Amino acid sequence: MKILVLNGSPTRDGNTVALVNAFKEGAESNGHEVTVLDVAHKKVNGCMSCGYCHGAGNGKCAQKDDMQEIYPHLMEAEMIVFASPIYYFTMSAQLEAVIQRFYAINHPPKAKYTALLLSSYSPDVYTGAIAQYKDMIGYMGMTDRGIVTADNSTNKTPTKLAEARELGASL
Ligand SMILES: Cc1cc2nc3c(=O)[nH]c(=O)nc-3n(C[C@H](O)[C@H](O)[C@H](O)COP(=O)(O)O)c2cc1C
Repeated sequence: MKILVLNGSPTRDGNTVALVNAFKEGAESNGHEVTVLDVAHKKVNGCMSCGYCHGAGNGKCAQKDDMQEIYPHLMEAEMIVFASPIYYFTMSAQLEAVIQRFYAINHPPKAKYTALLLSSYSPDVYTGAIAQYKDMIGYMGMTDRGIVTADNSTNKTPTKLAEARELGASL
């Protein structure tokens, strides 16, 4: 399966990336092709609701920013993994901007499956992000294959990284 990881953390060697790397290792061990895009280091604006994509643009976004590099990956992905630190009880603004720019293509055409990797400082701060994720993938017709969350007591621990690795290997 072609798996696309949208990593919304700006921290190069941080807690979210640790989950991403473990997930990737597990998925690759099972023969999957994993591409990680560090979207927090790309320049992606919010959707302007101009309507071009649903009219004359015919699925193309009018905004010429780094989202243009991301769309081809979205068109080919068979699974999408959303990875993010928790910022104020939701995913990072950088990842949210990318998600809201899905609007141009409605939903990734080949993606049947998704997963969610979240890192935070406090425990029990995931309700909003998980609710959004579940509503969003339901709307887009995709099925959740697993959610891994890690807080300050479990970030980068062998047990937590094994959980992310096992999720990847289970696919
Ligand atoms: C702007 C900002 C907002 C944050 N908001 C929360 C929050 O609401 N709840 C929480 O537990 N941690 C919050 N954190 C902490 C991060 O989620 C946590 O440190 C996470 O592990 C960082 O992941 P990273 O290493 O990938 O950057 C926040 C951090 C930042 C920078």
